[in-house]
Parts: sequence; structure tokens; C-alpha cells
Amino acid sequence: MKMSFLLNGGSVSTSVNTGTETLLDFLRQDAELYGTKEGCNEGDCGACSVIVTGHDGVPRSMNACILFLPQLQGRAVRTVEGISGPDGNLHPVQEAMIAKHGAQCGFCTPGFITTMAAAHATGQTDFDTALAGNLCRCTGYAPIIRAAEMAATAPVPKWMQDLPPKTGHASSDAIFCPLSSDELAQWYQQNPEATLVAGGTDVGLWVTKQLRRPAPIAFLSQVSDLRHIEDYPDHLRVGAAVTITELMQAIASISTSLHSMLARYGSPQVRNAATIGGNIANGSPIGDGPPALIAMGAILILRRGSERRRMPLEDFFIAYQHQDRLPGEFVEAVELLKDQTGLRCYKLSKRFDQDISAVCGCLNITAKDGIITQARIAFGGMAGTPARALRTETALIGQIWSAETFATAQAAMAQDFTPLSDMRASAEYRARTAENMLMRYYHDIEHKPVDIREVRA
Ligand SMILES: Cc1cc2nc3c(=O)[nH]c(=O)nc-3n(C[C@H](O)[C@H](O)[C@H](O)COP(=O)(O)OP(=O)(O)OC[C@H]3O[C@@H](n4cnc5c(N)ncnc54)[C@H](O)[C@@H]3O)c2cc1C
Ligand code: FES
Ligand code: FES
Repeated sequence: MKMSFLLNGGSVSTSVNTGTETLLDFLRQDAELYGTKEGCNEGDCGACSVIVTGHDGVPRSMNACILFLPQLQGRAVRTVEGISGPDGNLHPVQEAMIAKHGAQCGFCTPGFITTMAAAHATGQTDFDTALAGNLCRCTGYAPIIRAAEMAATAPVPKWMQDLPPKTGHASSDAIFCPLSSDELAQWYQQNPEATLVAGGTDVGLWVTKQLRRPAPIAFLSQVSDLRHIEDYPDHLRVGAAVTITELMQAIASISTSLHSMLARYGSPQVRNAATIGGNIANGSPIGDGPPALIAMGAILILRRGSERRRMPLEDFFIAYQHQDRLPGEFVEAVELLKDQTGLRCYKLSKRFDQDISAVCGCLNITAKDGIITQARIAFGGMAGTPARALRTETALIGQIWSAETFATAQAAMAQDFTPLSDMRASAEYRARTAENMLMRYYHDIEHKPVDIREVRA
């Protein structure tokens, strides 16, 4: 398949044979642009960060090692070679990195420069968050953050403005790049054995780490109607190909707690690629999206051909690696009620940023006149699927809103879940911390400090 995209301001065309060729390999092997580095090859270190500008014109940092070439159709890419001006002028972040001594060995530096330039172009100033996906092992972060702060006040250079090209319609027998969900639905029904790629933050690793070559393969990145969030008076309808970054923007006014948790989902690079549909469809028991959406009472919409099915999200997860999805059926959207005042989301992981949850607890409890009337509690990391704590919910409903009620309900959690031990946490630790999240919720709603960064002795 022939395809083209914008690279450092100029159009490039290339042939794609399997669809699993990564942007990083293309840059280093075909385009002879060696500035973009390969560190981990799995989205964890940010050495391969490039700036990708999509249909909305917003430049975003992404990991080239897990971006497949077909995902770049209709997009503009800027690598570290394209950050300085055509006349050789340095970008403000480059000048600042030199002035503040932001690089020692420099292996991580190209990735920092591109991520910093993306943050600079969009006016972001929370550099701890913006740079959470870039790992530096030898300089240390203080000089890098100082450089980002120094550059922040400088204007965005004109040469940084990329206009993404018009969406193309390149496909081949084994690689399908639909432009609408109707096209996808028809093709997928005829090719139910195909692999769908949305953000590729899971599938990317199947290719780079497990050396798998899924075929046939369909890319959802240009399916514009799957990328919409429809805003209704009482709910949002979130298309499956909406990224975690876009979802965060949409739910910021609905739940600050979920927004804060999603800010710890992977890194900015991962959130800019990963989609909510992929996070649901992969059926992972440790994904962060599903427990939150289940606690919100989300409705999942599946589509096969022209037929659609609606179900409460929790019913989709049948058992470990087994979801209620028919051959040729895909996740089309998820509907979320906007009234989520009682929702609180807690992610427990070994690292604050860029880590998968050991336990993810999302609780949504309503009380009226001092009596608990409703409870939706969902956990990730506690069973083979994301699951509701139904016995704990029952132990709470109808009881007085009090610390004692929550302490008593903790016992029910042991009946709800029998967690496993793995490298993230032991079964005992998971059980104990999940119980503690129940108490944490009570104190959180009572406006007590419950975040480790707020708690003072
Ligand atoms: C470095 C790194 C950090 C991460 N951190 C986190 C984290 O903190 N929290 C977390 O939850 N996850 C994390 N992940 C996992 C990953 O980002 C998520 O699972 C992500 O949501 C997958 O979405 P995607 O669009 O990238 O999926 P893809 O990789 O494109 O697809 C994943 C699976 O879903 C299928 N699929 C995709 N879209 C659809 C659809 N619409 N209908 C049917 N099937 C579909 C694909 O065929 C594939 O089987 C991380 C991944 C990486 C690489
Ligand atoms: S090489 Fe580490 S994130 Fe891509
Ligand atoms: S400068 Fe060496 S790892 Fe960052």
C-alpha cells in the first residue's frame, strides 16, 4: 500500500507492506533521520518521542516506536531534526536546554526536546505532567524542568505550525484504513479474523516485543465518527476511537477525581494515542478506564454490520480474556451519565506516573438524608476482569452514612474478590488496599485529606 504524510514540513510517500512498520523504523532506516532514538521499544521511555499533529491541528507528543505508519495518514510528524528553524535558528526549548545544562549523555535529549516543544506549542506549563513519559537516567530532571520553564515565555516559532494533510484513503488487501464506521462495520463483518488497531498502545507491543504480524489489519485512526464525543443534556456518547487525552478534556468538568486518575494513565505520549475503545476491548483486568466507567454506570454500544447491541459495561467482561463480543463486532461507543458527583477514583501503582495499576478502585455512592441509597463500586486488579463489588455495595445500601458503616462493609470485600499475587502486588496487599479504599472514599467525601501528597502528620 502506498501512503503519504507530512514529515518536518514536507510530504513523504512510502510503501507499507504489512501495516505493522513503525514510524521509528521508518525514520531511522528509510528517512535517515537518526535523531529519534530507540530506548525501550515499548512506549515506556520517551526516547522516540515525536510531535504528531492530527485533524484538530493540536501538536502532541507520541512514541514513534509503537506508532504504525498507517496511523499517520492525514497527520503531520515533526522529529527532533525539524525543531530548529529552516535557517538554523534554534527553537526556544533547544536554547534553554543548552543554557540550563539539560543534557549529559544526551540519549534521552531528542525525546525531551520534542515533548517540550509540543508542550511549548500548546502553552502547557505543568512540566511534571508534560514530561512524565520521558525518562532521563543521567542528567536528572531539575535542569530539564528549569529549561522548560525558561522556554515557556518565548513565542512559538512560525516554522512549528504544521497543517495536517487531507485524510487519504489508502488501503490494500491486507491493510484496511476506513474513513467511517459504516465502512469499518461492513469490512470487519466480512473479515472477522482481522485485528483492529486504534491507538496501537497494546498492539504495538505485540509487534515490537512478541514479534507478531497480525493480518489482515484495520486502522481506526481515520474513522472520524468514532472519534466524536456527543454532548447530550444528561450524558456523553464517547466514540470508541476517542483518545484518553480527549476523554480527559471531556470529563474534566464532570469528575475531577477521574480526571486526576487519568492524568496518571501511562504518559502524555501514551494518552495521546490510546483510545477508550481499545482500553475496553482488550479486556485487561488491570486497565484504568473500565472500573471508572463501570462505577459511572456506563453503557457499552457494540456494532456488527448494521446491528447494534447495548449493555451495561460490566456485562461485557465475562471472564479473563473473554468478552461478550461476536466475530466481526466492534466497540462503537460508550455512554456516560454526566451527574457523577459521588464518583472517586483511586489508582494504586508502584510508580506515580507511567505505571499500570496494582489496584484501581472506583466508587460512586449516593446518600440521602444520612442514608446510603445507591452504590456502584468497581475494581481493577482484584479479579480476572474489571468487576463490581456487589456484596460490598449491598452491605452499604440502606445503612447510615458513617465511618462505622464503611468499616463494617470492608468485611464484604473479602467475599467479593479473591485477588492474585503477581509482580505488581501480593494477593494480601491487594485485598487490604482495596478495603482501605472504601474507608478512603468515606474520608474523601467528608473532605478529609486522603491524597498522600496532602496528608500531613
Ligand atoms: C507505556 C504504556 C503505558 C500504559 N499505561 C496504561 C495505564 O496506565 N492504564 C491503562 O489502563 N492502560 C495502560 N496501557 C495500556 C494501553 O494504553 C491501553 O490498554 C489502551 O487503552 C489500549 O488502547 P489502544 O487504542 O492503544 O488499543 P490498541 O492497541 O489499538 O488495541 C487494543 C486491543 O483492542 C482492540 N480494539 C481496539 N479498538 C477496538 C474497537 N473499537 N473495537 C473492538 N476492538 C478494538 C484491538 O484489536 C486490540 O485487541 C499502557 C500501555 C503502554 C504501552
Ligand atoms: S523507545 Fe522507549 S518509548 Fe519508544
Ligand atoms: S542525558 Fe543521559 S539519559 Fe538523559
